[in-house]
Amino acid sequence: MTQATELDATAAETGANATKVFQAKAKAPTAGTNQERVAELATEVLAAIHDVIRRHELTYSEYDALKAWLIKVGQDGEWPLFLDVFIEHAVEEVVNADRPGSKGTIEGPFYVPGAPRADGEVTLPMRADEAGTPLLFRAHVRSRDGASLPGAQVEVWQADDAGFYGQFAPGIPEWNLRGVVIADADGTVTIRTIQPVPYQIPHDGATGQLIAAAGWHAWRPAHLHFKVVAAGHQLLTTQLYFAGGEYISNDVASAVKPELMLHLKPAADGNGNEVSYDFVLARA
Ligand SMILES: [Fe+2]
Repeated sequence: MTQATELDATAAETGANATKVFQAKAKAPTAGTNQERVAELATEVLAAIHDVIRRHELTYSEYDALKAWLIKVGQDGEWPLFLDVFIEHAVEEVVNADRPGSKGTIEGPFYVPGAPRADGEVTLPMRADEAGTPLLFRAHVRSRDGASLPGAQVEVWQADDAGFYGQFAPGIPEWNLRGVVIADADGTVTIRTIQPVPYQIPHDGATGQLIAAAGWHAWRPAHLHFKVVAAGHQLLTTQLYFAGGEYISNDVASAVKPELMLHLKPAADGNGNEVSYDFVLARA
């Protein structure tokens, strides 16, 4: 029997993993809510749905299609995927509207806490034959007043050259292309990795059915994910993209912002490309 590779990834399997990871980190569903707030939000969400039904004169066959689809999203474990792709960007926008410093964007469904830690200048964990163009990423982490933040923690996670994440597709080592890098005395980190490529979100399940039925596409532009934090500062969850890259202007997850662009240039050592970025953290 041949071993499954990442190319055998299915939306149901990826979704099941994303659901498990989310449930491990999530609080109980009712934590932090009060009755008034629940009533207000739930009433308005239902009213918005009723309004769409009335304005578009929904038929029973459309109502049944919706029910069947909602059931399938749950059965495939695709709620984290669907919500993070189509809803999270609005939440992030509202929550971080007034936060100064570098822009954040969505976390998405593929973050896993507990990646291996290393200091200052590192190569992300990767396979000996990891495909892709080498990328050297340098970042300076500073406070809004300009002070460097030595000891800041820069956590990175990314898809591989075929567009898959470790722990969400079969055959990829557990912590492949994931790591937590601690900034040096100057507040800088230097990370050697491979250049991410655009990928389609898992689309052979319920989320993909909706995308196909609506004639949308499932692509995200190439990106690196980050969580950056330092003592006395707020956690920044963000993604960085490559200026001029495909799907920058029509990301399926609506998570691109103009402030989040990297500008590729050939690496000084002739090995692939290099980029740099300043992470500016807001005080806690
Ligand atoms: Fe991603």
